[in-house]
Amino acid sequence: MPMNLSQRCGLVMQSDIRAMSIECARMGGINLSQGICDTPVPPVVLQGAADAVMQGVNIYTHHTGIRELREAIAGKQRRFSGVAFDAEREIVVSAGATGAMYCAFQALLNRGDEVIVFEPFYGYHVSTLRAVEAAPVFVPLDPSDGWSFMIDDLEAAITPKTKAILVNTPANPSGKVFSHDELTLLAEFAIRHDLFVFTDEMYEHFVFDGLSHLSMAALPGMRERTITISGLSKTFSITGWRIGYAMCDERWAAAIGYFNDLFYVCAASPLQAGVTAGLRSLGDDYYRALSTEYAARRDRFCAALSEAGLAPHVPQGAYYVLASTERLPGATARERAMHILRETGVASVPGSAFYHDGGGERLVRFCFAKDAHVLEEACERLQKLRFS
Ligand SMILES: Cc1ncc(COP(=O)(O)O)c(C=O)c1O
Repeated sequence: MPMNLSQRCGLVMQSDIRAMSIECARMGGINLSQGICDTPVPPVVLQGAADAVMQGVNIYTHHTGIRELREAIAGKQRRFSGVAFDAEREIVVSAGATGAMYCAFQALLNRGDEVIVFEPFYGYHVSTLRAVEAAPVFVPLDPSDGWSFMIDDLEAAITPKTKAILVNTPANPSGKVFSHDELTLLAEFAIRHDLFVFTDEMYEHFVFDGLSHLSMAALPGMRERTITISGLSKTFSITGWRIGYAMCDERWAAAIGYFNDLFYVCAASPLQAGVTAGLRSLGDDYYRALSTEYAARRDRFCAALSEAGLAPHVPQGAYYVLASTERLPGATARERAMHILRETGVASVPGSAFYHDGGGERLVRFCFAKDAHVLEEACERLQKLRFS
């Protein structure tokens, strides 16, 4: 047998986001490509983790996470979405939302199963599906109409192999926040075709313009078929701590837990303690302030983009903005993103990274989860673009 890579490697693409970050670091630029927030971590979260480290919280935890953390997650979920999950049997703490999603796919999808994914998509969703040898089936969101979707497109995507639909709200990269009416349509669709729904609710606390985040599991008949995935990477600005979770009916949670044990054993124990401290003590005002602060960053950044001639698709949530590059030189999104980087030192992600087949060539994505000074500097640099 020759020594070679597994066939699976060919299915999991090298991320454009990482490539742009490397190029940006080489140039010493401002990296607005990766979703890394450099905003401050709540002190109570830091203290909780520091105390745990000093107190010798070093060993493996239960494979689904420490009980206190699962209880704190259940409490937060009840408080914000009205859905009750049993902390003992229905919550799996994992290595970030990314780990939770990988375990959920392993537990619930077979090779060849089809999963409907809205496009533009978050690359990890598609690559993770491919890593478990499931097949993403793409349904477009319409940028000219608030990233709306057509139920006819969903119906046309159904085949005997369709097993699930993936919903990311608020969405990366579009910033779309699915409305109650849209989620109801999707819920009816999932019930009609007996599908699982994987929801990625990572940006649940980043919602603007008075809109609210709604959890699919809260809709009638959806709790039993929805795998709700979220985490604290963004909410507490701890992307490197790798704490996220899946919440679902115990029938599915047990199997997700087995895979979590197999891949990660458990999430880092002292960091679980830090997150627990944050969830226990931060009140609604903390979460509300996130939306207010990030809405202000969005407004400032989108104004700069407009001025630079990079017309923004103003997001309703999350902390990314897709901007139009029609006026820039270059044949592809990658060339235009490189043009912006060369001219201004600001890195973005080519829009093609969010489409499967030649889409997104006229878009780039910026992340505005940056410290105010860094963001201001990026705005000033971008505003000069049109004169260059
Ligand atoms: C939609 C979405 N889900 C999940 C993640 C990653 O979450 P975690 O750090 O908990 O793995 C990201 C990060 O950019 C994201 O944009």
